[in-house]
Amino acid sequence: MRLFIFIPCLMALAASLVTAAENAPKKVFPPDPPMPEYTLPEVLKARAGTTITTAKEWETARRPELLELFRQHVYGRVPATPYQTTMRVVNENPRAMGGAATLREIDLTFSTAKTSLVMRLTLFVPNQGPKPAPAFLLVCNRGLTNIDPTRQQRSDFWPAEEGVARGYAMAAFYNGDIDPDRHDGFTNGIHGLLDVSPRAPDAWGTLAAWAWGASRCLDYLTTDKDVAGDKVAVIGHSRGGKTALWAAAEDPRFAMAIANDSGCGGDALSRRIFKGRESVSIINKSFPHWFCENFKAFNEREQDLPVDQHMLLALIAPRAVATGSAEGDIWADPRGQFLSATLARPVYQLYGKGGLGKEPAMPAIGEALHGEGLHYHIREGKHNLTLGDWQSYWDFADQTWQRKNKP
Ligand code: GCU
Repeated sequence: MRLFIFIPCLMALAASLVTAAENAPKKVFPPDPPMPEYTLPEVLKARAGTTITTAKEWETARRPELLELFRQHVYGRVPATPYQTTMRVVNENPRAMGGAATLREIDLTFSTAKTSLVMRLTLFVPNQGPKPAPAFLLVCNRGLTNIDPTRQQRSDFWPAEEGVARGYAMAAFYNGDIDPDRHDGFTNGIHGLLDVSPRAPDAWGTLAAWAWGASRCLDYLTTDKDVAGDKVAVIGHSRGGKTALWAAAEDPRFAMAIANDSGCGGDALSRRIFKGRESVSIINKSFPHWFCENFKAFNEREQDLPVDQHMLLALIAPRAVATGSAEGDIWADPRGQFLSATLARPVYQLYGKGGLGKEPAMPAIGEALHGEGLHYHIREGKHNLTLGDWQSYWDFADQTWQRKNKP
């Protein structure tokens, strides 16, 4: 008898807990700390003073101008040194991940008369579901254990099994293969192979070199019969996210760029100056090898930059851009990241896409805005690339690529 009363009581309690959770006020990101006023350069205002009103004008006049400004003053220019590439599948396992995927490991070798360099691309393509599969290419800026081809070590930084289960090919390369992440005067990595001496003030830095490496992986991916070469997303976290954005700006073959917690020099507006975030001078002093030499002229002079980071996102339009923040990652300036995603909208509109919408509010913590061409989310926690971040990006990709027949 007592049990009969007890069970309905428990059920009522559970239901009221669910309702309470649903009705709990959403946690919002705190308002901005005090900061000096700033004026952003306008994405659709060409340097000659004209206003861009069509996609054609954007593509022929303003986009090339902006791309050059980013090369000249921020990331640097790829050298014109000739080199040769060979691509070789060095390992293939059609029954990887317990039969769920085919593994391919590919060595890309770059050679000049002087010397050569090898980078390793790891690729899992799903054995189930529609083929060729859209792909996610991770710029891995953490240890090799995060992209273990044997899958004996697994990490949420590259949740390859989950991606494959959603019908995506999962690819990754280690950034240190292209350029070790230390300031050695640009002698090692691809710089040792291709740089000319003396280096020009707009010669590429390490981020641009990693971005170049991502494009070389795409050279291979577009030849793989199981990968949809027109649906490859380049994704990176933090310094890898800065890289992903620049890779997609430089290489129009990337269908999507995903920058997780990329912050300063990535998706965060440089002109927002406040204590606790990374600034242009801090990043240039801590990582003197990441950008081109010219960028250092803007230490403490962000307002004089001819560009700001919303323009980097705009360079990728009408292709898709997804960015994400973590609530606790003030160093990356979450609100500055959100704002630059909203401010790339005018260029998406030239292509009939609404971006994140007209004057959107910053989403509550734990929520995502899946827009037309643009995505932004913010989650609880610290600076990291988590499974939850990946799920949000996969959701956006499902929507963007209208993936109805996914497994
Ligand atoms: C440092 C750096 C950031 C960078 C981050 C990372 O915190 O200041 O700019 O994004 O490292 O790559 O994890």
